[in-house]
Amino acid sequence: MTQQQTEGGDVRLTGISKTYGSFTAVHPLDLTVPQGSFFALLGASGCGKTTTLRMIAGLEDATTGTVSLGGRDITGLPPYKRPVNTVFQSYALFPHLDVSENVAFGLRRRGIKSVRKQVGEMLDLVQLGDFAHRKPHQLSGGQQQRVAVARALINHPQVLLLDEPLGALDLKLRRQMQLELKRIQTEVGITFVHVTHDQEEAMTMADTVAVMNGGRVEQLGAPADLYENPRTTFVANFLGTSNLIEGEIVSTGTDVVVAAGGGRLRLPGGRCTSPAASGEKLLVGVRPEKISLAHAEDADAIPEGRNRVTGRITDSSFIGVSTQYVVESPAGKALQVYEQNIERDGRLVPGAEVVLHWNPEHTFGLDADQDITAGAGVLEEAA
Ligand SMILES: Nc1ncnc2c1ncn2[C@@H]1O[C@H](COP(=O)(O)OP(=O)(O)O)[C@@H](O)[C@H]1O
Ligand SMILES: [Mg+2]
Repeated sequence: MTQQQTEGGDVRLTGISKTYGSFTAVHPLDLTVPQGSFFALLGASGCGKTTTLRMIAGLEDATTGTVSLGGRDITGLPPYKRPVNTVFQSYALFPHLDVSENVAFGLRRRGIKSVRKQVGEMLDLVQLGDFAHRKPHQLSGGQQQRVAVARALINHPQVLLLDEPLGALDLKLRRQMQLELKRIQTEVGITFVHVTHDQEEAMTMADTVAVMNGGRVEQLGAPADLYENPRTTFVANFLGTSNLIEGEIVSTGTDVVVAAGGGRLRLPGGRCTSPAASGEKLLVGVRPEKISLAHAEDADAIPEGRNRVTGRITDSSFIGVSTQYVVESPAGKALQVYEQNIERDGRLVPGAEVVLHWNPEHTFGLDADQDITAGAGVLEEAA
């Protein structure tokens, strides 16, 4: 299909909020989704993702605030007057209509008679050209989902909203569909706002991810930026895994030095989320794959200048590409270390005394006035 003529159109939410009685589902929120971007709203079940999406669609009235599209205030418009379409987790295809008539539905409803060309282009886009005359029940889940996407896109929306669209698919199919949706978005250039509770899904697909927690956006950024530079414990724990070590600042400057677990750890001052001062507490963070593991007997071979923590392996799981170790140490009871399986050291088994070491540059500092476990072990269930 040809690129849609979207006349200038960032989605802008300004002070948008939603309360149900005394319960606030979405706190006043300011958010800009740039035109043509693939934007993900990521968060655990109940954090307000669907409510936010429904306010963009007009399916839910906002309690406060405005929604605008390309500078036009659409807050008061009913859903069908907004240049927005939604794809839900339950595809809601018409069971008695075949694939091409499902896709043609939006055109027919607008009284357009000659739909063949457009439907054909749409089916090609979602690679279902050969399935035009099947009924939905003769398709796999992934194929049905692609029909739902084609059915929404044929209306030429400026924005496509997707609410956990892959939630019903098994893992392998979900991975395929993630790439497929990404390809479609790149091809049509329409703004996609994708809601998911699956952090890998958000990171794979989106240009920008907004991490939501308790009705608020905690942090927004490109996937790699969020992953490398989490600004809260929730983001550090929810997006992948982080080791967070409680410490006390000893000195500040280009590098911040922290006393933790009986030793000293160093990190770049610029990687602390708040101004650091000596004597203050700090949570020192490092991702499990940034850490190397040496047997205690080889401790002398560790290069100078690396951060070090000594401990004992309590658990290890071989998962193919990597081995995941749990290490007990004075700096933390259950530090996580992921080692790529290249040359495995047979001595690194539960019970072994080890030294964890990593480049100080790979360390980040978080405000210690937060729940250190926020976002950890949040149930990965669809909302
Ligand atoms: N119609 C409603 N009445 C009362 N509470 C609601 C209603 N819809 C949603 N909520 C509540 O608002 C919160 C956010 O819901 P939702 O936006 O569906 O979350 P998510 O999509 O992130 O799982 C939840 O606690 C939910 O129970
Ligand atoms: Mg939801």
